Amino acid sequence: MKQKRALITGLTGQDGSYLAELLLDKGYKVYGMVRRSSLERFDRIKHLLDRIHLVQGDLTDQSSLDEAVKRTQPDEVYNLAAQSFVPTSWNQPVLTGEVTGLGVTRMLEAVRRYKRDAKFYQASSSEMFGKVHQSPQNEQTSFYPRSPYGVAKVHGHMITVNYRESYRLFACSGILFNHESPRRGLEFVTRKITYGVAKIKLGLAKELRLGNLSARRDWGFAGDYVEAMWLMLQQDRPDDYVIATGESHSVQDVVNKAFTAAELDPKAYVVVDQALFRPAEVENLIGDASKARRVLGWHPRTSFGELIDTMVKADLHYLGNLSSPLPSTIVGEEGDMPSDSSHP
Ligand code: NAP
Ligand code: GDD
Repeated sequence: MKQKRALITGLTGQDGSYLAELLLDKGYKVYGMVRRSSLERFDRIKHLLDRIHLVQGDLTDQSSLDEAVKRTQPDEVYNLAAQSFVPTSWNQPVLTGEVTGLGVTRMLEAVRRYKRDAKFYQASSSEMFGKVHQSPQNEQTSFYPRSPYGVAKVHGHMITVNYRESYRLFACSGILFNHESPRRGLEFVTRKITYGVAKIKLGLAKELRLGNLSARRDWGFAGDYVEAMWLMLQQDRPDDYVIATGESHSVQDVVNKAFTAAELDPKAYVVVDQALFRPAEVENLIGDASKARRVLGWHPRTSFGELIDTMVKADLHYLGNLSSPLPSTIVGEEGDMPSDSSHP
């Protein structure tokens, strides 16, 4: 049987790395799009570099996307690339619209022009539900995004539906709720907490500054969620699916779980910082993934408790084995963040 080819945008991100592992295990020839930067950002995929094929491209540059699709002739395209950090989208709203919104149109155009029969996956987001109209949220719930990022994702979602209907492309959107892992970026709240806990435990920090502790999310494990992406493209017809655990927890719950895992008392270390609150907050997300369960046979395998425990252990292991001192910190939109981006 002919070896299947997959093209992944956002290969160097959290999900790109897990998806590449999954597709390689399934025998795919995997092409991954990477953009040029002055420093290589291959921390999450260095263990895969001898098995994947890198193509250069950027979601803001149509010709590079056309060339990538023309040259690789993929059977499946997974569009995971995005400016994905919500606070940055207030700071760089136009860039976020270009990459996270219009970038999807560019990718769909490349597929339509150069590999029309390729199956296309779009990384849609529960952030589209924003100020929620119903709970739990499912595929019928209307959108009310609360950030430039959420607005850009609505564009990406609807243009995917539109290309499916206009050109009969096999185009699917996965509306994924928050999913985390030891490879999560350090600026996202779960990893900020588990990394912060590990630093405190090892005597490398004295406090952890956080914003809104009462926000609630439906958090799952990224390794489970990339399997749902693949399943969507194995169906007979294209469709959209909510992927979620169906459980919601507050940021305070993550704090409690992570500090307990390290046998520390959060009250002694957590500082609430008003500067870390968002201009418009998404207060409460919880997903109903019953369609994915029914049609795809997908269900999450990792519990909230296992996820946070694993992340704390991984960060303790990583920081405990650092041979050189921690790099200096830079000031980001959500407080001081380590410039170090290593991922266990
Ligand atoms: P991530 O870790 O932030 O990775 C984002 C990826 O996009 C990186 O590989 C990044 O490359 C790439 N990228 C950024 N700008 C680009 C551009 N202009 N051209 C080409 N590539 C670019 O995100 P993730 O957590 O893996 O999420 C994957 C996708 O799912 C994103 O679209 C995200 O919005 C969406 N999503 C995520 C979640 C979640 O909870 N994780 C939930 C719902 C939806 P560099 O390494 O070069 O920066
Ligand atoms: N990042 C961060 N840092 N968030 C904090 C902090 C903090 O210090 N303190 C409280 N929070 C709260 C935020 O206000 C938000 O309500 C919640 O923690 C989760 O924030 P993030 O982890 O940054 O994720 P997100 O929900 O905004 O977005 C993630 O999930 C989306 C899916 O719903 C990203 O991965 C998006 O790309 C994704 O689409």
